[in-house]
Amino acid sequence: MHPSTPDAALLLAWYDRHRRDLPWRARPGEPADPYAVWLSEVMLQQTTVAAVGPRFARFLARFPTVEALAAAPWEAVAQEWAGLGYYARARNLHAAAKAVAARGGFPQDEAGLAELPGVGAYTAAAVAAIAFGRPAVPVDGNVERVMARVFAVEAPLPGAKGRVATLAREVGAQAAARARPGDFAQALFDLGATLCTPRRPACALCPWRGMCAGAAAGLAESLPRKAPKPERPQRHGVAFWLEDAAGRVLLQRRPARGLLGGMLELPGTPWREEAWSEAEAAGHAPAPAAWVPAGKVRHVFTHFALDLVVWAGRVAALPAGGETVARGEVLTAGLPGVMAKAARAALTVSADAGSVSG
Ligand code: ADE
Repeated sequence: MHPSTPDAALLLAWYDRHRRDLPWRARPGEPADPYAVWLSEVMLQQTTVAAVGPRFARFLARFPTVEALAAAPWEAVAQEWAGLGYYARARNLHAAAKAVAARGGFPQDEAGLAELPGVGAYTAAAVAAIAFGRPAVPVDGNVERVMARVFAVEAPLPGAKGRVATLAREVGAQAAARARPGDFAQALFDLGATLCTPRRPACALCPWRGMCAGAAAGLAESLPRKAPKPERPQRHGVAFWLEDAAGRVLLQRRPARGLLGGMLELPGTPWREEAWSEAEAAGHAPAPAAWVPAGKVRHVFTHFALDLVVWAGRVAALPAGGETVARGEVLTAGLPGVMAKAARAALTVSADAGSVSG
């Protein structure tokens, strides 16, 4: 039971007054750039609005059009994506840009968009609605939360995802929403991000206050319920910072597929459940050197947490086969987050390591 169906027109009227001014949003009345919309939606898939803002502008400055992105070498795309995480997004983004450039523009409907690499149901719906005004309802975590509350869905996520998405599409089928699908989608995002927040929702300010079954039942803040997540396993690795007499550092590129695929890294051991003894780890060093400990960094990935022990060493000449970068340029070379942490640890130690010899 809910008090009454949430009214799309009321939500849109609220959005017209309170919409967030975000870098990827077209101004009211202006057409949206499909490339910018798609890029922003891919960046926002796993990264917060606050973190995406500056990176979105920088990415667009470097690759201003989908054709420019398609023509860029992978190394440049990887460098520009570095630190944003979930690197499969960057690989798919690059592949999709090539597909779009080859076909002469973006597909304009959900089904066509969903055929692009990395474009799932959510992104296809978001781009169809925001860039092309198609009547699609993208359902992200914000939208799930809003719908679970407004309709007082007490079944836990992710089991209730299908039900919640159906409810979202029902509201999206109202005439007011169908007249402005992109604004309707973004109004839901903004409601979820600014008022219907995970904790302490500002129900008093909500345009759907009088229509919210969750608030009426005093449940809003406790929804959506979530099924308990399995614990994250722990893994261990050792990374080697190897520097030559000229201050050049050995990096290598990871295989194209899999975790951090196609990104630069420090050479190291595999990552496994047991910690590494010094003797075992030394067997994975890229060259013999007098290794000194440079600390330990921790990084949490989606499916495991990593403790990475960092060793620093110096040699007269770096072994062949890797990529070499001047130590002053390592942090801008495009290392993924975990490797940037390791590099910072090594830079701190090796800065005053006249004693490191090899
Ligand atoms: N989250 C995902 N897409 C978004 C958008 N277009 N605006 C605001 N938040 C979002």
